[in-house]
Amino acid sequence: MTTTQRKILVTSALPYANGAIHLGHLLEHIQTDIWVRFQRLRGNECYHICADDAHGTPIMLKAQQLGLKPEAMIEQVRAQHMADFSGFQIGFDNYYSTHSDENREYSQHIYRMLRDNGYIQSRTISQLYDPEKEMFLPDRFVKGTCPNCGSDDQYGDNCDSCGATYSPIELKNPRSVVSGATPVMRDSEHYFFDLPAFEQMLKAWIDSGALQSGVANKLHEWFEQGLQQWDISRDAPYFGFEIPDAPGKYFYVWLDAPIGYMGSFKNYCDSHNVDFDAFWNKDSTAEVYHFIGKDIVYFHGLFWPAMLDGAGYRKPTNLFVHGYVTVNGEKMSKSKGTFIQASTYLKHLNPSYLRYYYAAKLNNRIDDLDLNLEDFAQRVNSDLIGKVINIASRTAGFIHKRFDGKLSSDVIAPELLASFVENQHSIAELFEQREFGKAIREIMALADKANQFIAEQAPWQLVKEEATLEQAHQVCSLSLELFRILVTYLKPVLPDLAAQTEELLQTELTWDNLSNAIFGQSISKFKPLLQRVEMEHIQAMIESSKEDLAKMQAPAPAQKTPLDEDPIAETIDYDDFAKVDLRVARIIKAEHVPEANKLLKLQLDLGGETRQVFAGIKSAYKPEDLEGRLTVMVANLAPRKMRFGLSEGMIAAAGPGGKDIWLLSPDEGAEPGMRIK
Ligand code: 2FM
Ligand code: ZN
Repeated sequence: MTTTQRKILVTSALPYANGAIHLGHLLEHIQTDIWVRFQRLRGNECYHICADDAHGTPIMLKAQQLGLKPEAMIEQVRAQHMADFSGFQIGFDNYYSTHSDENREYSQHIYRMLRDNGYIQSRTISQLYDPEKEMFLPDRFVKGTCPNCGSDDQYGDNCDSCGATYSPIELKNPRSVVSGATPVMRDSEHYFFDLPAFEQMLKAWIDSGALQSGVANKLHEWFEQGLQQWDISRDAPYFGFEIPDAPGKYFYVWLDAPIGYMGSFKNYCDSHNVDFDAFWNKDSTAEVYHFIGKDIVYFHGLFWPAMLDGAGYRKPTNLFVHGYVTVNGEKMSKSKGTFIQASTYLKHLNPSYLRYYYAAKLNNRIDDLDLNLEDFAQRVNSDLIGKVINIASRTAGFIHKRFDGKLSSDVIAPELLASFVENQHSIAELFEQREFGKAIREIMALADKANQFIAEQAPWQLVKEEATLEQAHQVCSLSLELFRILVTYLKPVLPDLAAQTEELLQTELTWDNLSNAIFGQSISKFKPLLQRVEMEHIQAMIESSKEDLAKMQAPAPAQKTPLDEDPIAETIDYDDFAKVDLRVARIIKAEHVPEANKLLKLQLDLGGETRQVFAGIKSAYKPEDLEGRLTVMVANLAPRKMRFGLSEGMIAAAGPGGKDIWLLSPDEGAEPGMRIK
């Protein structure tokens, strides 16, 4: 490389650890991956870092629904996300989790710096609280009747029916989505980050000219509305990091999520001998870019640079913001099967197709991108198969059949070759500017030229005559050299095709090698490179997408009841099992607990000893039907103080919840107090 090597850190937004990767995520990750691969191809030191965004109430509740510990669930999801991304050849240097030691350290460190620099204040606020589940409710976890139009079943922040926005306390007949209980208002102390203190700094950063104009405009609109103090704390129970010196208070997920970029990078640096500080120190000369969707500009354009600045770190060099994916001109739809998950796509179609199609349609603006499935098939078939692959498939076979597997040393059309090499400058500039669609158009224009040359020369005719055999050799050789250059240009977009081509041409495709022609060299036997897209495969993908989503939306296990309050998902060893004292017990008395929706109060006879237990089985059993029955109880559970009294054990029951709960009852002959082995 003649230019100096740049140091670049690139991130894609961190997917939440409670949902599958779909074609919307893939637009961003493919866009990032192409840019990173381009930088590496140019010889720059460029790292692509990501992680799962693992904290927050929805993730905590989803794990409870699945009967898993959040740590176990987020690891399963991360494994699936990594498999999906690797299926699309996204080449992360590190794909980590925000639930990591590194992230905890940076989150707490940044918080302490902000606090010590005077940017954190606390005050008491009043919020809706679920008295049964004993937790504060985020707006999306409260539903009720719209105060504006009276529509039922609306979320706590806005009405789907009339579009009104409001605060959850304005909802009529509010209820907790988590337990169904009626929420009450409760006070709690919250911590706030002083965003308005950064107004001047942010304005200067935004006006420095680096940001896309659409992004800068949006940020300016927010300034006009006035910056607000940002609530960065949440009360227990919460899955996240505890705030230093504030027991029971946790960082709101959006505080530690962007710090997760640092956490993941730190984890990478430590095992790869890379200097983390050279990228993040205040005086760093490295470049830092965040690829994100337009919905999270607020967090990355205001909170994040302010947090970094307030804690003494450098700010991002730029944000690269993209729009949403639509399919066939509409929002991705579950019922139409166009909400396509990465894993569903991969069962039916080659990932290179999507990488190519997205690249062909991407620019550096915030426009939405439409994946029109017919256009997708047509474009991939006509460009990739009809133009690019065609060059090799019409010429490579002859090299082995007629010319001992060796390319000619003579160049039949040097000016054609020169024009291919010359285009490297404009193509590089387009990739650098993230104008991938324009780069693809230039590359395809070159492919057209190569095909025109082949059609004019018709090597399949030339090989028939001894007199034109040498010309055929030169035509096929130049065609393959042109193919080498084209696939080098496409390498960031199509790493698989590039690897196959390297194997075919026995050479490494690098930007520096663009002018190092391979004339006179031996090549491998030609093997088919990429097949056409068939509409029937696309159709099959749509159908399986509907099925996959139906499976995912199958009724989740009923909401958590005291029966499964502390789900134990991990394997336990025998010693742990042996500690559990399971006994036969007779229910001698069962009664309602008027203040609780789900609980019955039971008196259990353990063969002489009586125990009081609260059990979440009210939806399945009437108290009077239980009296006299035998059941199994955990007799050595530490007593727990509940709002209604002391619970001195647990009874064993099975089932998903609601009406489907069955008490485990021992066979005949059992006596209260018997130990179960
Ligand atoms: O919007 C989202 O999907 C978030 N999980 C993105 C987080 S990006 C970064 F800030 F962590
Ligand atoms: Zn309404």
